[in-house]
Amino acid sequence: MITVVDHPLAQHLLTNLRDAATPPHEFRQLARTLSTLVVLEATRGISLEEREVATPVAQSLGHRLAAPLAVVPVLRAGLSMLEPVLELFPDVAVGYIGLERSHETAVAHSYYCKLPRLQGRTTLLLDPMLATGGSASQAAQALRSHGAERVVFVSIVSAPEGVERMRRDHPDVPIFTAAVDQGLNDQKYIVPGLGDYGDRLYGTP
Ligand code: PRP
Ligand code: URA
Repeated sequence: MITVVDHPLAQHLLTNLRDAATPPHEFRQLARTLSTLVVLEATRGISLEEREVATPVAQSLGHRLAAPLAVVPVLRAGLSMLEPVLELFPDVAVGYIGLERSHETAVAHSYYCKLPRLQGRTTLLLDPMLATGGSASQAAQALRSHGAERVVFVSIVSAPEGVERMRRDHPDVPIFTAAVDQGLNDQKYIVPGLGDYGDRLYGTP
């Protein structure tokens, strides 16, 4: 199941994010606002419970979030999406998964994993680029092995190849993204994509 967030503001922000002339400080700001839009859509399905409040005028029946969330950014690039989640959901439990793709094979290897208790929570898995899907699939597997019950994958740009890989490996993980692009090039970069997200975020060569 894939949802493309096509709000006009999301498309505007994404176009600026793609622009090769956008410097890292602007890239970070755009990524932050765009992540907020995608995360809001990705959390539309979270459950609520009724809660009575006394306003200054009368008793009122309202709602509050029923179950706490967990969020796990995939390092490095996923870090750009973490702050928006912390602002929207201050009670969230945070974990980290470090994955890096080999420049030669495009296969990701794991170099870090620190996860909170995930049972009973919806876990937002954050990684802005879904290319071959190898990183997202590995990360989702790590969450599952750690007891995650419901995982939602949040990305910015996705390739059809990555979407298909996730559908095959983790059919129960919904994907929320701002775009599904044409495909991958020979180096397994997304086309048109936006280049190397981590490098553009942090100004590394
Ligand atoms: C990027 C991106 C994803 C991965 C996507 O990370 O953030 O994690 O590539 O590619 P895949 O779908 O083919 O696995 P990268 O390995 O470049 O590490 P970085 O975030 O530290 O730059
Ligand atoms: N990782 C990136 O940062 N960009 C791509 O296009 C593919 C993987």
